[in-house]
Parts: sequence; structure tokens; C-alpha cells
Amino acid sequence: MNEIKSASGGLRIAVLASGRGSNLRAIVDALHAGIISNAQVSLVLSNNSSSGALEFARQQNIPAVHLNRLQFTTDVEFTTAMTQTIREHNCNFIVLAGYMKKLDPTIISSFKNRIINIHPALLPAYGGKGMYGMRVHEAVIASRDSVSGATVHFVDEEYDRGPVVLQERVDVSPADTPESLAEKVLKIEHTLYPKAINLFAQGKVHVNGQHVVIES
Ligand code: GAR
Repeated sequence: MNEIKSASGGLRIAVLASGRGSNLRAIVDALHAGIISNAQVSLVLSNNSSSGALEFARQQNIPAVHLNRLQFTTDVEFTTAMTQTIREHNCNFIVLAGYMKKLDPTIISSFKNRIINIHPALLPAYGGKGMYGMRVHEAVIASRDSVSGATVHFVDEEYDRGPVVLQERVDVSPADTPESLAEKVLKIEHTLYPKAINLFAQGKVHVNGQHVVIES
């Protein structure tokens, strides 16, 4: 079993986000409320210069950095800049909160078992390439499923495939639309993600290959 130890001083989190940033806000609120302890958000990084996530980070005096592949000539330069930025802020943990770009494998291997993502469905259902944001909820409604939910999982080289850390379900009613389902799922994301991050901050998550054990 591989214990996910936080460095002394706790988790120094880099939050990567592309859009609205409501999960980032929920994480910062949970830190202020003491729902997450032994952790801090040390960096917010976004590929989108006008993201709500960057705007919120600036309001909170959290270092906020815009990094997009288009600013660089090669993939390697872009990945190097991203890795350097994360290292410069001494981050030891990466949280993807609505980050819609694939991470380079070199980042995944240098932060092995230290990168998590939240997905707005019960993985492995409704995951994989092209399944993000509203598309997920549209697919659940089109399939007439009676449950959906949210999943926090480790990030590996494939979209939405890494071992599951936590999941929570929501009922889907026949009257639900993709929009109403998105709202229900987002509400549980805002408590599930802080809960998962706190488990890491307390050193309670153990992983062995695809197998995750949460210490009670
Ligand atoms: C969230 O619903 C998150 O689960 C989803 O994007 C939204 C971001 O919202 N992520 C994915 O679909 C990843 N595959 P936010 O910007 O308000 O946190």
C-alpha cells in the first residue's frame, strides 16, 4: 500500500480550472470553515484568461496564473512552464476543478497519486473523451437513468479512468432536464470535493494500483 503523505506544512494545492470556478470556491470556503485542515490553495492555474476561477483567486490573493498552449511554440515548452509554475509555488498536490484540458503524462508521472479530478457522473459510467460538463448530464437524461452523481478520482493518463476515491449519488427524476440535473450534481460536488481533499490532507487515503482504501 502506498500512503499519500502530505509534506510537513500540509497539502499545498495547485487548483487547475478552466471555467466558472464554483468547485474552487467550495474548496476555499471549506478551508476557511475548517472543513479542510492541514492544507492551503497555493496556486490557481487556468488555460482561460477570463475564467471565473482566476478572477476569484485574485480576489482571494491566491497566486493566479494563466497558462495556455497557444502562448508556447511546442508542447514541451508549455509543459515545462506548467511544471515550473507548480514547483515554484511549492505545490505537492494537484486538484482539477473543471479543468478541460488533458494533462501531459510527464506531469502525471511526477505527481503520481497526487492528482485528483471531480467528474459529474458515477464513473465509469459517462466518462471518457468528450464527456464533460453539460454533455454528461445530457447523456444521463437521454438514457433515462434514475441515478447519477459525482466522482472524485485519481488522474492517470486516460480520461476519467483513474481509481475512484469517493462517489455520491443523486436521484434523477423523470422531470429532470440536463440543466436541473447539473444543478443537483454540482451541489453534491461542492461537499464531496472538500471531503475528499480533507481525507488526503489528513493522510487517510491509501492506494495500491487501482485499489483505494480510506482509513476511517
Ligand atoms: C463541474 O461540474 C465538474 O464536475 C465538471 O466541470 C464542472 C466545473 O464547474 N468537470 C468535468 O466535466 C471534468 N470531466 P466549476 O467550474 O463551477 O467548478
